[in-house]
Amino acid sequence: MNTNGNAGFRGGPSSGVRCILGIETSCDETAAAVLTLDGKVLSSVVASQHDVHKRFGGVVPELASRRHTERIEGIVMEAMNQAGENGVDLAAIATTRGPGLAGALVVGVSFGKALAYSMGVPWIAVNHLQAHVASAWLDHPSFLMPCVVLVVSGGHTHLYLVSTPGQYSLIGRTLDDAAGEAFDKGAKMLGLEFPGGPALDRLAHSGDPSAVHFSRPYLNRGGLNFSFSGIKTALLYFLRDRKKIGHPCSLEDIAAGYQEAIVEVLVEKTMRAVRRHKVQGIAVVGGVSANSRLRALLKERAVREDFQLALPRVSFCTDNAAMVAMAGWWAFQAGQFSKWDVDARATLDHVTLSAG
Ligand code: KG4
Ligand code: ZN
Repeated sequence: MNTNGNAGFRGGPSSGVRCILGIETSCDETAAAVLTLDGKVLSSVVASQHDVHKRFGGVVPELASRRHTERIEGIVMEAMNQAGENGVDLAAIATTRGPGLAGALVVGVSFGKALAYSMGVPWIAVNHLQAHVASAWLDHPSFLMPCVVLVVSGGHTHLYLVSTPGQYSLIGRTLDDAAGEAFDKGAKMLGLEFPGGPALDRLAHSGDPSAVHFSRPYLNRGGLNFSFSGIKTALLYFLRDRKKIGHPCSLEDIAAGYQEAIVEVLVEKTMRAVRRHKVQGIAVVGGVSANSRLRALLKERAVREDFQLALPRVSFCTDNAAMVAMAGWWAFQAGQFSKWDVDARATLDHVTLSAG
C-alpha cells in the first residue's frame, strides 16, 4: 500500500476529529466513507462497476472481485482525503462482512482488517443488512425507535422491528424473490438496460399505472411475508399475449402497472406491520427505496395516516459505505469489536449488531 505524500491514513490520538472509516465491497460497488463519532458524514465515495457488468446483463462475480481489487485502495484514499485535508483520526474501521458475493467481500474484509491492524485501531465486521438499516439514521439522527424498518434490495425484502440500535426482530420476509429481483427481471423482459430497477423506474414515469393491472402478489395472504416470483411470470405472459389480445398499452404503461403492483404490496405490508406492532415510525432502506413511486406513495401515506417516515437520500439507498460506517459506529458505541480471525461470509443472513 502506498501512502507516500498523503495525509489520509493516520490512526491513534491526535488533535483531529475522531472518525470511523466504512468500507463496502459486497456486490458491484466499491465504496468508502468517513463518519465522525457524532454521526456526521464527512465523505462518501462510491465507484460503481456498471460499465463492467452491463454487457452481461447482470453482475459477474469474478469480474466484480477483480475490479474491487483494482479500486479499493484509491477509493479509501479518496474518502480519507475528502474527509479532511490534514487527515482524520480513525477510531475504528468497519467493513461489510456479508451477505454478498464471496470474492467481492474478501477484498473489502482483507483490506479493512489489514489497514486497521497496521494502524492499531479496532476492526468491526458489519452485516450488510444492518448497514442498510442504519442508513435510515444517517439523515434522520433523531428518528425514534421502536420502529418498523423495511429492507428492500436486490437480494432481500425483510421487515424488522427495531427496538434499539442493537435489537432487531425479523417480522416478515420474502418467501422467494426479493423486490429488487422482481424489478431487475421485469426490466430485462421489457428490454431495459442493466441495472434494471432504475431503468424501469424511469420508463414508468411516462406511463399510466392503471392501464395494465397486475394482481398484487400476496397482499391478502402470508401475514407480513412477501412473494414476488408470481408477478414476474404474470409479466412474461402479458408480454407474450398482449398482441394477440390487442391490448392498447405502451411499454411505459406496462412498466408503470408492474411497478405499481410491487410498490403497493411493499407499502401495504409495511403499514400492516406498523399497526400490528403499534409503532409510530417507518424507515424504508436498500436499493429499491430509491424508487420514485415507492418514495412518493410512502410520503403520501405518512401525511394521511400520521406516521413518521425516514427515507435515506437516494445515494444512501443503494450500496454505499456511509451506512457501513454508521453500523460500525453503533457497534463502536456498544464496545463490540471483531476478532482478527473473523472472515467474509457470503451467506450471513439476519441482522445482528456485530457481525462477528
Ligand atoms: O441495496 P442495493 O444497492 O444492493 C443490494 O444489496 O442488493 O440494491 C440493488 C437493487 C437492485 O435490484 C436495483 O435494481 C434496485 O436496488 N434499485 C431500484 C432502483 N434503484 C435501485 N429498484 C427500483 N427503482 C429504483 N429507482
Ligand atoms: Zn445492499
